[in-house]
Amino acid sequence: KNIVILISGGGSNMAAIVRAAAREDWRRRLGAEVRAVISNRADAGGLAFAREQGLATEVVDHRPFAAREDFDAALAGAIDRHAPALVVLAGFMRILTPGFVARYAGRLLNIHPSLLPAFPGLHTHERAIAEGCRFAGATVHHVTAELDHGPIVDQAVVPILPGDTAQVLAARVLTQEHRLYPRAIAQVLANL
Ligand code: GRF
Repeated sequence: KNIVILISGGGSNMAAIVRAAAREDWRRRLGAEVRAVISNRADAGGLAFAREQGLATEVVDHRPFAAREDFDAALAGAIDRHAPALVVLAGFMRILTPGFVARYAGRLLNIHPSLLPAFPGLHTHERAIAEGCRFAGATVHHVTAELDHGPIVDQAVVPILPGDTAQVLAARVLTQEHRLYPRAIAQVLANL
């Protein structure tokens, strides 16, 4: 069961997944392994880590494509070369077309830094603090055509503490994302 991970930035969730896959020996336990990391940005920090790990990496730059459909077709081409059982979005900052989502139905996961269905979209931590929420967190969910919706696989909860800035809260949530995402992926893989 090949896993392909899509990133746009630092890739700390991707790195956590790659490390968990090695540490917990997903190949033996789940018949699964991370095969490739694909980014829409050539300067994504996570690409260097992936290369160091000996993983195949690829960049599919979204900018030359006028239409989202055309970018998504190129992206799907790059993904499908690795014959993935599961496609994992890890800080991948592009909105995907319904056609792309349908192609990977049931085997496309995302992590979102809020307790969905609260706070879909951007600036989740600022919004949670502004609303006076006492808890924040992250959600791993199946991707559907509607942004940051889709069946929830698992969540992690952290407290919001007095005086928290969005940055402090984001760091607290991200630490938990690194535990949550590998666990959620293992759960989905076991049922694929
Ligand atoms: C994470 O907070 C993720 O939930 C959000 O973007 C951030 C990505 O961080 N969608 P990284 O690239 O995995 O370090």
